[in-house]
Amino acid sequence: MKRPYLKPREPSGMEWWTYLSFAAVIYVATIVSLRMLYPEKHLDWSIIDETQRTFPESFQWGVATASHQIEGGNSNNWTEFETRSNIEESGDACDHWNRWQEDFQLLEELGVATYRFSLEWSRIEPEKGQWNAEALQQYSDMIDDLCRRGIRPMITLHHFSHPQWFEQREGFLDKDNIGLWVHYCEKVFERYCDRVTDWCTVNEPEVFSIMGYFMKMFPPGKRSLRSTLTVMRNVVQAHGIVYHRLKQHNPVCRIGLAKNVTLFDPLKRWNLLHWTTSAALNFVWNGAIVRALKKGTMFGKKMPLVRGSLDFIGLNYYTHVLTSPFLPQTNEVNFPKRSHETMTDFGYPMYAEGLERAVKMLETLEVPIEITENGTADQHDTLRPIHLQRHVWMVSELLQQGHDIRSYYHWSLMDNFEWAEGYSLRFGLYHVDYQTQVRTLRQSGSIYRDIINEASQD
Ligand code: GAL
Repeated sequence: MKRPYLKPREPSGMEWWTYLSFAAVIYVATIVSLRMLYPEKHLDWSIIDETQRTFPESFQWGVATASHQIEGGNSNNWTEFETRSNIEESGDACDHWNRWQEDFQLLEELGVATYRFSLEWSRIEPEKGQWNAEALQQYSDMIDDLCRRGIRPMITLHHFSHPQWFEQREGFLDKDNIGLWVHYCEKVFERYCDRVTDWCTVNEPEVFSIMGYFMKMFPPGKRSLRSTLTVMRNVVQAHGIVYHRLKQHNPVCRIGLAKNVTLFDPLKRWNLLHWTTSAALNFVWNGAIVRALKKGTMFGKKMPLVRGSLDFIGLNYYTHVLTSPFLPQTNEVNFPKRSHETMTDFGYPMYAEGLERAVKMLETLEVPIEITENGTADQHDTLRPIHLQRHVWMVSELLQQGHDIRSYYHWSLMDNFEWAEGYSLRFGLYHVDYQTQVRTLRQSGSIYRDIINEASQD
């Protein structure tokens, strides 16, 4: 009888479904940990009374603007870009260059203690090495006028615009040009630092570089990842150099930069790809700059002057962006939002809760925080009142939790030229009629005036 053939058993190999189960367990564990480590906080605003808020007496209320957005009649990298791209031309803007006294009266009406504005480099140094005495004098008069009104000026040295001659040399793309900007900064600082204590070197290095060199929405309108990272690094480096130079002239002045903190959250919180995208964007937009200011290195390069180059950090906070690997290539889209969130006219959601995460991110820099910008585009002023109240309430909560926030600047005093979006977006506490240049206080403006008034009586 034939003996049955006994097949030797295979050494126990794992079946495909075993692998799959393992992978599934690891995936779920990763997602659960990420969700626990990075919760996306949302509050039930229906049970919150935003009018319950308290502020220390020393807290400073302000509004912010930028030269190219309000002055009118400029000739700089933006005006050149406006003529060759399909965005609106800034033209006369709010004609603030001629109406500044009237506009400073508006600051007084609001009752603000501080005003953040920028100097227009292209007015002061229209050609390399040529200084415009009249422009220097007018800014000097403006500073004097603010001081007379008891309003503390905070000056921004670079708020997206610069002279065309600087752009023609490739601006901040070429690190050899940094010295040209430093020279200009020293010149204006020497002239005004006897009256201006608070200085903001650069506005939003990440927005400036990403919008100009990757999204093609700002001048020079390029798309190159390499140039984007180079410009971001050079601008941060320029900030570090200017910080130390200006401190040598006058160590008493407080110098910082304005950081836009946009929070990138995964669109689907169970999707690892969405988490990966949001982590990558968070690093490029926020992490790289915060790290540079903390450690003095950026994208592999050492920048020792940048480390600790801050007396305060400016926080510009607007929203969070829900991300997936399918990223918009321009910002002319409606970004996704959570179902309960309200969309602003800019096409991104109102997310006041995010202010807490933004503050926590920047306080790792261990310097006081000035909220140098916060506001919303809202043509009909239907959302701005609640947008303002929620954000101010968040500030009050954060102060009570012990976070070191010194000021809040609303963006903006009045409607103005909103960069790539032109005049279509209205951010003002005052409505501006661009035909007549008449400014009219909006309901949200009077709410802000009441907030300031009420806080000073606490
Ligand atoms: C900021 C910028 C401001 C203003 C604001 C509103 O990024 O610094 O100049 O445009 O956005 O969108």
